Amino acid sequence: MDRRQFLTTSIGAGALGYFSLNAAWAAAMDHSAHGSMDHSGHGSAGTASHGAGAMTLKTVPDMPLLPVTALAAGRAHVALSKLANTATAVNRFEATLTAAEHQVELVAGQKTPMWLYNGQVPGPLIEAYEGDEVAIRFVNKLTQASTIHWHGLPVPPEEDGNPQDAVPAGAERVYRFKLPKDSAGTYWYHPHPHGDTPEQVYRGLAGLFIVRSKNDPLRAFAEQHLVISDLKLDAQALIPDNTANDWMNGREGQFVLVNGQREPVVTIAGRQRLRIWNACSARYLQLAIPGQKLTLVGTDGGLLEKPVVHEQILLVPGQRIEVLVGDGKAAQLALKALAYNREKMGNVEPEVDRVLARVNFVAGAVPAIPAQLRKINDLGRATALKKVEFSETMSMENGVHTMAFLVNGKVYDMDRIDMTSKLNEVEIWEIFNNSHMDHPFHIHGTQFLVLDSKLDGKRQNAKYRALHDTINLRPYETVRIKMVQHDKGLRMFHCHILEHEGQGMMAQVLVK
Ligand code: C2O
Ligand code: CU
Ligand code: CU
Repeated sequence: MDRRQFLTTSIGAGALGYFSLNAAWAAAMDHSAHGSMDHSGHGSAGTASHGAGAMTLKTVPDMPLLPVTALAAGRAHVALSKLANTATAVNRFEATLTAAEHQVELVAGQKTPMWLYNGQVPGPLIEAYEGDEVAIRFVNKLTQASTIHWHGLPVPPEEDGNPQDAVPAGAERVYRFKLPKDSAGTYWYHPHPHGDTPEQVYRGLAGLFIVRSKNDPLRAFAEQHLVISDLKLDAQALIPDNTANDWMNGREGQFVLVNGQREPVVTIAGRQRLRIWNACSARYLQLAIPGQKLTLVGTDGGLLEKPVVHEQILLVPGQRIEVLVGDGKAAQLALKALAYNREKMGNVEPEVDRVLARVNFVAGAVPAIPAQLRKINDLGRATALKKVEFSETMSMENGVHTMAFLVNGKVYDMDRIDMTSKLNEVEIWEIFNNSHMDHPFHIHGTQFLVLDSKLDGKRQNAKYRALHDTINLRPYETVRIKMVQHDKGLRMFHCHILEHEGQGMMAQVLVK
């Protein structure tokens, strides 16, 4: 069955279509037939086994949501709260992160249960230095197993929150790692338990991590942090489970938040450095401040070699950037996510431009932008080649629609090793998106260089050297990247649309 046929027979028919798709999904996924659909509202929806049999997908029907105006807009941008360092020795960072449910008053007079690190939305910011020894005690007060994955950081696999190393409900552990030289950059952390990552993130679990260098070429610039996340609230201000559409396209809520606030006012005096995170489960952000240029100085793994001026920058789920903005002239502008078509399936609403924040430029110091930022090692000649294919399958058997998201033709199995790599060997990975939808590829434990991409028969070399741990692939695009793994052990790679990852668009490479 092809995609168009699948869509017109399942979700092409408007409201009824959505309803029957949901029912079909619950049925398709409930092989053991003990789940139940609650068509009347949120809460106890169909629960069902899926794929390799170890996964659970909760699915609810579409339901009325709060209007976007339910959250106050236009307040002053708040700084992220920092995780206090309790270490007494130098060059150490020690702290505790506790994951637990909290009742948060997002909408005046209403309590929203959220799952949070240390009770904060978003989770606290860890700021440490290259060379630091980090020890984070993780206390899991959730009712399900969890892990903390240090997205983008070069930490050993056994400290990286792999799904195999789950911390059971009520248990705790300490994550220990050293931040190597040249790791200065903008990272984040989030849960990575088997199958439950989407839910744990959309209920609020995600936090930020900045590794600083004592020799930062941009130290003259004042710095602000913008964490962009996505939130869905139903009419009772509760966070509903995923609908079938969320599982297909990745979850997008009605709210897009910056540091937990809707459309805050960011005041920029003179020229400043912004670090921006896309911590959304699935939302793509085509970022622009119309009327201002964005001078890109850093990507996922830290600074570029030289600044590059852009009008717009696409930031896909999981990615981070550092930009310099402002020329010293006063102006009232907006940070926007411009409409970007990532080829979602079904009769979804058309993409629109959205205001993420008001940006109030005021007079202030305008430090000169350095022409050179650092040197990025090109890693030398690659001696191994790996091929990765992302794909989707759709079928309709006995009137039941099913779909799967695959890596090299398979759904993730945490007990299967999909590939092996040699420690310290330079590899080229050729990643092919053999599907109709954009998917962001992400790999754990290392930063890679993009070599080139091929789309519609046209090859394009990367325009400049930059370190990434996440890169977008357009439908039918091939991207070639170069990388090395410096620790032995198991590393996941997956689509960073979390609903796709949760359904098994993930695989693992054993480094030995
Ligand atoms: Cu941020 Cu395996 O992910
Ligand atoms: Cu990661
Ligand atoms: Cu995907």
